[in-house]
Amino acid sequence: MITYEEKTHRLLLRTENTLYALKIGADGVLTSLYWGEDLPCAGDLPTDAELSRFCRHPYMSGRRIREEYPAFGGVCPLEPALKADLPDGVRDTELRYVSHEIDEEGRHLAVRMKDAYYGLFVRLDYRLYDGLDLIDKQATVENRCGAPVTVRKLSAGTVCLPENRSLRLSTMSSHWGREYDLQRETLTQKKYVVESRSLYANSDALPWFALDDGASEEHGEVWFGTLRWAGNHKITVEKTAIGLVSVTAGFNDFDFSYTLKDGETLSSPVFTVGYTKGGFGAASRMFHDFQRRYFAPRAWANKPLPIVYNAWAAMHFKITAKALLPQIDLAAKLGAELFVIDDGWFGNRDDDTSGLGDWYPNPQKFPEGLRPIAEKCHAAGMLFGVWIEPEMVSVDSDLYRAHPDWILGFPNREKEEFRHQLMLNVARDDVRDYMIACIDRLIGDNGLDYLKWDSNRFVSHPGWLGVPPEKQQEMWVRYIENMYAVFAFVRDKYPRVIVENCAAGGMRSELSLGAYCSRINRSDNQDPRDMLFLHEGFTQLHRSACAGGGCHIAKPQGGLNDRVSPLRFRAHAGMLGSLAVGFDLTKLSDDDFREIQGYLAFHKQIRETVQCGDLYRLVSPRETAGEYCVYEFVSRDKKEAVLFVFGVNISFYHAFPRVKLLGLLPDAVYEAAGETPRTGKALASLGVEINPLVGDYDSRVLVFRAK
Ligand code: DGJ
Repeated sequence: MITYEEKTHRLLLRTENTLYALKIGADGVLTSLYWGEDLPCAGDLPTDAELSRFCRHPYMSGRRIREEYPAFGGVCPLEPALKADLPDGVRDTELRYVSHEIDEEGRHLAVRMKDAYYGLFVRLDYRLYDGLDLIDKQATVENRCGAPVTVRKLSAGTVCLPENRSLRLSTMSSHWGREYDLQRETLTQKKYVVESRSLYANSDALPWFALDDGASEEHGEVWFGTLRWAGNHKITVEKTAIGLVSVTAGFNDFDFSYTLKDGETLSSPVFTVGYTKGGFGAASRMFHDFQRRYFAPRAWANKPLPIVYNAWAAMHFKITAKALLPQIDLAAKLGAELFVIDDGWFGNRDDDTSGLGDWYPNPQKFPEGLRPIAEKCHAAGMLFGVWIEPEMVSVDSDLYRAHPDWILGFPNREKEEFRHQLMLNVARDDVRDYMIACIDRLIGDNGLDYLKWDSNRFVSHPGWLGVPPEKQQEMWVRYIENMYAVFAFVRDKYPRVIVENCAAGGMRSELSLGAYCSRINRSDNQDPRDMLFLHEGFTQLHRSACAGGGCHIAKPQGGLNDRVSPLRFRAHAGMLGSLAVGFDLTKLSDDDFREIQGYLAFHKQIRETVQCGDLYRLVSPRETAGEYCVYEFVSRDKKEAVLFVFGVNISFYHAFPRVKLLGLLPDAVYEAAGETPRTGKALASLGVEINPLVGDYDSRVLVFRAK
């Protein structure tokens, strides 16, 4: 509920358990008063008498602190949320409260601010969600100055945390094949920047943070958030000399410039922030609920995803209709439910250096097109889908020959190919429309049920050919907005089509694309041991259900870890998310085939709980130095729990501590094969034994069902 206290000029945003309080000062400055556990008594907040001390820097005279939306101006040593060049060259902004509006349901607040002198307006939007301790923040800047204004920085907003704490910062910074690597450090007096400059909200710095005060997985205070933006982002966490900790998130100001003509507006991405006393586990579950209930594509948000068969791991670019057709009946017999054709089906040459952009079936490889394959899959009872990389173009393609100006680049500079590909300038509306037309035709002509949207290179030479200098850098924003428009087209016209967000694995694995994509290629690294680590980071933000990829049960992928591990371990690790098989099925032995068939059948029994239930990361692989880990999933009605126990490499003799289950009904009695029936309460306090775990790649899955 959002309310306004007339007497105190305070705006109070109350979620299920938290309070976010703002004060409109007599001078019109908007101050952040508080963010944390709900304080039911209004008198608990800083009083007016305290306020001048509370929001003024103690020794930097004139400097305000705790501004809800600090613009570049005045004494400005802190990170600004907004910077604009005004028509007469003034670069200083002084925002003052104008008005606010709260919707009837008390879930949306819009605060209108204006520069003290110029016609520069900012609207701050806040949105609350039923049953969740999350707040969306977004800022929109509007030019009413009568002449162009250049925006140099635009953030969704800033959040201020309680002072003088030894807060610890968690981020996920890593690289291809090792996405979602959790890193934790105690804040000292400095700025921490989590940013992307590659046009991808990439795994080098996922747009996510958590700040905690000694929290553990299931206990303690955590302030957390994510910027929902697939492009260049910047999250700045700052601890000042006086111990004030704030977080500002928005478009990256690196190479940023966006000119607004009189009357034009620009909106920042949405910054979703939350607070919990339930540790990192509760913070993650809140994000998972958020996706499931509010913005994941509706058709699959509360439904288990089909088991994928994808021959990429087995065949790479060597796919042909001849090689794939025999796999179809075998995949269906194995228990797969979605047959996927990956990279290499398009263009007209037999290699991987050409044809991107020409989204027609390769006549040598697929002489009759994709339709017969789609029909065969459907006849076998499976869904059918293909891979596409719509943002890219090969130099050797009809598309590039027809539109050499459609790429990103600078005149008089090299056209830099990576993986034999250039990037299309998706900021152009004609490129967006071309992408829509290709995808529409591809889905329509072939009755696709699934689309794997891949993207395998970062930007270089980010120029927009043919537009004037002042428009050049708008590319950073317009590219992503046009890309969203293509995703939105697919979601709205084909709501049942499952879209997988893939960018060389998980290189663009952020939350905004979760509004269009039901699955994410968590990582190209599908080594089952590494997957256990990846999943811990992945699920800080994403639902387990989304953890996709092409080949959990497959031969090891060359170029990544080539560890050999038992089928059973690979299958169990794959079952933590949305399972996929990637063997050449014509070459599997009968025994292996039957074994995998068994895993797929078992996965179908438990996947509703795994994919739609609540996740508890009971034992982290990081905390046991990779020796073992335990994940638990609890169904929404709490009547079923699935416990995954992975012994990765057990050294010496170990008596493992019993594992305490969480999230169960205390009084219900749960049964599991080989276990003594126990109440939820007993399973939470006494736990279950996970001995013996022995040797390398030991794994087991226990299913507890309430009687
Ligand atoms: C990268 C993806 O992550 C892989 O799964 C595969 O689709 C390749 N691209 C194809 O080029």
